[in-house]
Amino acid sequence: MLSGRVVVITGASSGIGAATASVLATAGAKVVMGARREDRLHAIQDEIAARSGEALAMRCDVTVRDDCEALLQAGIDRWGRVDILINNAGIMPLSFVKNLRVDEWERMIDVNIKGVLFCTAAALPHLLAQETGHIVNISSIAGKRVIPSGSVYCATKFAVNAFSDALRLELSARKNIRVTCIQPGIVATELTDAITDPDLASFQKHIKGIEALQAEDIASAILYAVQAPAHVNVNEIVLRPTQQEQ
Ligand SMILES: NC(=O)c1ccc[n+]([C@@H]2O[C@H](COP(=O)([O-])OP(=O)(O)OC[C@H]3O[C@@H](n4cnc5c(N)ncnc54)[C@H](OP(=O)(O)O)[C@@H]3O)[C@@H](O)[C@H]2O)c1
Repeated sequence: MLSGRVVVITGASSGIGAATASVLATAGAKVVMGARREDRLHAIQDEIAARSGEALAMRCDVTVRDDCEALLQAGIDRWGRVDILINNAGIMPLSFVKNLRVDEWERMIDVNIKGVLFCTAAALPHLLAQETGHIVNISSIAGKRVIPSGSVYCATKFAVNAFSDALRLELSARKNIRVTCIQPGIVATELTDAITDPDLASFQKHIKGIEALQAEDIASAILYAVQAPAHVNVNEIVLRPTQQEQ
C-alpha cells in the first residue's frame, strides 16, 4: 500500500497519467495531478474523491519551468512532502523528416525532454532533503528502437532512457532515490491524435488493427515499481502488446 505517500503525476488529464492517478490513489497515495486541461483534471479529482481517495488537480504546462515548480510546491503545501514524481506528460506527432514539421519537433523536445528535466529539477531538492524518493519516467519502446517516422519522437525517448539511467547512477546508491524507466509499446490512448502527417495514415491504421495495451496495464506496472520494498530499485519495465512484434 501507498498510504501517506505523496505522488506528483504530469500529464494526468488522460491516458496513462489519468489511469495511474486513479490506481495509485486507490492504493492509498495522495496524488497531485498536473496537465493543461483543467476540466479533465477536476473530473478525475472528483472521481477519486468519490472513492474516498485524495487528489489535487493543478494546471501545469511542463514546458514552463515555473509551472513545474508550482506543481511540486502544491504537493508540499497540501501534504508536507513529495515522495514520488511520475514524469508522464508527452506528445507524439510522428512525421517523416522530409516533411519538415519543425514546429512539431520543437514541441516534442520541449514536452518530452525539457518537461522531464524541469519537473525533476523541481522535485530533487525535496527528495534530497528527505533522503528518500522515487522518480518514474515514462519513456517508450521508441526509446529502445527507432522507426522511420519516429526520428524526433524516438530521439526524445532515447534521451529519457539516458537521463533515467544517469539519474539512477548518480542518485540511487548515494542518495536513496530510486529511478524507474517505463517503456511501453502501443497503448490505447489519445496519443496518436496529434499526428498530422498524411504519410502516416497507414501506420495509424496498422496500430488500430492490433490489440493494444490499456492505460491501466501501464498503471499496474508503475504501481508494482513504486510499491516494491525500499531495497528494490525497479530500473526498467518494458511492456508490449502480445500482438506487437517490433
Ligand atoms: N500511447 C502509447 O502508445 C504510448 C507508448 C509508449 C509511451 N507512451 C508515453 O506515455 C506518456 C503518456 O501518453 P498517453 O499515451 O497516455 O497519451 P495521452 O492520453 O495523449 O496523454 C498525454 C498527456 O500529456 C499531457 N501533456 C501534453 N503536453 C503537455 C504539456 N505541455 N504540459 C503538461 N502536460 C502535457 C496531456 O495533458 P494536457 O493536454 O491536458 O496538457 C495528457 O494528459 C507519454 O509520455 C507517451 O510518450 C505512450
